[in-house]
Amino acid sequence: MIESIKILAKSLRVRFNNQCEENYPNIWLRDHIKDENNWDKRTHQRKTFTASLDLNIQIKKAKVRDDGNYIDVLWADMDNEVQYSYEYLFKNILRSKSKNNNLRLWNKNEIKDDIYIDYQNLLKDDGFKIFLKKLYSLGFCVITNCETKLETVEIIANKIGYVRQSIFGGLWEFESNEDMADSAYTQEELRPHTDSTYSIDAPGLQLLLCCDYKANGGESIMVDGYNIGDTMKNNNKDLFDILSKIDVPGKYIGDGVILEAKRPIFKLDNKELVQVSFNNYDRTEFRIEEKATNKFYEAIRKFDELANSDKFQWRHVLKPGELLIFNNWRILHGRGSFKGKRKIAGCYINMEDFRSACKIHGVY
Ligand SMILES: [Fe+2]
Repeated sequence: MIESIKILAKSLRVRFNNQCEENYPNIWLRDHIKDENNWDKRTHQRKTFTASLDLNIQIKKAKVRDDGNYIDVLWADMDNEVQYSYEYLFKNILRSKSKNNNLRLWNKNEIKDDIYIDYQNLLKDDGFKIFLKKLYSLGFCVITNCETKLETVEIIANKIGYVRQSIFGGLWEFESNEDMADSAYTQEELRPHTDSTYSIDAPGLQLLLCCDYKANGGESIMVDGYNIGDTMKNNNKDLFDILSKIDVPGKYIGDGVILEAKRPIFKLDNKELVQVSFNNYDRTEFRIEEKATNKFYEAIRKFDELANSDKFQWRHVLKPGELLIFNNWRILHGRGSFKGKRKIAGCYINMEDFRSACKIHGVY
């Protein structure tokens, strides 16, 4: 609740009952009025002509009411008082705590059987919410008992958001069959990576449905990139720092396109890790100072060592009817080497649509 307020020259000081105190600049408060002249409640869009506001706008009067639930403010350029709620002010404190309290960083041993969710369960409202919570907190899930067809991928994608179009199409199928060619088609291990480091907006989620498996090996590999970040931050701060500062470019050439993007392997927002991008296959050339170059390669080595350690890698052979879904901004994925036939269907979903689903269902 709001305990007290004080009108200052260019801001309003608000003291909350948890002893926290915050100064809200007048111009910011004036720009965020939610009355009918300044805010369209139907479309959730601003009506205020912000650029026309007086930068030195003054508060004429202000008072706390309803046991600290609201503040009424009379602005110099308005005739009527407007209100600000405690919730709104509190959620907009400048140095609020990290929003990612529901994240659970993990090592292989912390992944239990509840990572598996039955497809029919997911179609129910309660089951879907549990699934989203798990996907958000751990970064991946395995959906079991799916029908082994492309439509299943589409149904799940449409429950979360929609299928993303990319250079690979929307929904896709991939079949690897060594009987169809010579031994050169034997599949080697794919080391843990994230997809589309060459894409400015890398896919948020990836879905991989096993439709057929008559092979040896080929385990799907999941690694928590956030946990690698956390581990390096604690044990190798200099290496973490370089991976959070140096922009690393990715490049894709083929199918009539050239795609390029760059960002740090650990992308931070306000010191909080918000995206891991690591794909040694798609990294293209770039130059930095010699000292930084050597440090960067040392950091890559550490990152790769952790990503390929037994402690960090969760491995599982997908059986027909199992769909692996993971957060491509956090989880590195890989695949063990295999011999035989393996058919996978899948698609991508945008990060913004995954976040939207999480917000709609109260996951965070
Ligand atoms: Fe991949």
